[in-house]
Amino acid sequence: MSFSKSHLLGIEPLSPTDIVTILDLADSYVDLNRSAVKHSEALSGLTQINMFFENSTRTQASFELAGKRLGADVMNMAMQASSIRKGETLIDTALTLNAMQPDILVVRHPHSGAVDLLAQKVNCAVLNAGDGRHEHPTQALLDALTIRRVKGTVTGLKVAICGDIAHSRVARSNVQLLSKMKNQVRLIGPSTLMPSGFESLGAQVFEDMKDGLRDVDVVMMLRLQKERMDGGFIPSEREYYHRFGLDAEKLSFAKHDAIVMHPGPMNRGVEIDGELADDINRSVIQDQVEMGVAVRMAAMDLLVQARRVRDARGPEEVMV
Ligand code: NCD
Repeated sequence: MSFSKSHLLGIEPLSPTDIVTILDLADSYVDLNRSAVKHSEALSGLTQINMFFENSTRTQASFELAGKRLGADVMNMAMQASSIRKGETLIDTALTLNAMQPDILVVRHPHSGAVDLLAQKVNCAVLNAGDGRHEHPTQALLDALTIRRVKGTVTGLKVAICGDIAHSRVARSNVQLLSKMKNQVRLIGPSTLMPSGFESLGAQVFEDMKDGLRDVDVVMMLRLQKERMDGGFIPSEREYYHRFGLDAEKLSFAKHDAIVMHPGPMNRGVEIDGELADDINRSVIQDQVEMGVAVRMAAMDLLVQARRVRDARGPEEVMV
C-alpha cells in the first residue's frame, strides 16, 4: 500500500499518487454505499470522535455515516456546549479526548491552523474537516472524485472556481488539488474577494464571469461566506448576483457539457440560480454529497491501514 500519511490535514502535503490512491478506494466505497447492505469492517473496534467547533450539517453527517459504515464506534462531541465555553483551551480539550484513546479525530475549527496544532498533541489520526479559511481536504477530494466519475479524468481539464475565493477553504484545497493533478484552474470573482498569491499556484484570475467561463469543463460555485466578512466586500447581494451569480446565460459561455458544482450550503439567488442548481443535466451537487461519504470512508480507512503498517514496523521506522 502506497499511502503512509499519519493525518489528513490538507491537500498541500499530498502527492498526486496519494490523491489517486484515495480516489480509487473511494470508488469502491461508492459501490458499497449503493448496495443493499452498506457495511464493511475496516474500522471495526475503533473509536472515531467528531469535534465540530463550527456549525456543519453535511460534513458532520457525512463523517458520521462514513465511520458507522466502516464499523467504528462514532461519537459526536457537542463542542458548542462543551468545556470550551468554560474557558478550556483547544489543547486541553484535545488532551482530554486523547486520554479516551480514540483512533480517529475529525475536527472542524474556525481558526486556520488549529487542526494542525491539535494533531501535534494527540496519538491518533486527525482529519481536518475545515479550518478557518485554510483547508478543507475532504471537500476537494470529493469534488475530484465527482469530476473524475463524470468526466472520466481529473487531469487536463479547465476548471473555474467562482465567487468568494478570499474566505474559502474549499477554494484553497481545490486549487492545490487541481494544480497537482495538472488541470488549468481559473478563479473568477470581484477583486475585493480575490486574495493575492494564487497565481503562484498556476491559477489564472478573472473579474468577468463570461471571460473566465469561456470553454471550461467544470464550474465550481462558492458560497458568499458572510460569517467571515466584516462588511463592505460587495455592494449588494442583488448586484453580486447580477455580475457573479451563475445562471443559464453565463453558463452558456462554458463548454456545452460543462458541469456545475457547489459545496453547499447554497444561497440560491445570490451565487447560483435555483433552477440551474436543480438541473440534473448540468448540476452534480447531489453527486458531490454522495461522493463525500465514500471519500471520507476511503481517507479514514487508509489512515488506519497506514498506522497498522507503522505499528507493525516498530518505532524506529516511523514515517511522518
Ligand atoms: C463548506 C465549508 O464549510 O467550508 N461547506 C461544506 O463543507 N459543505 C463551504 C461553505 O460553508 O460555504
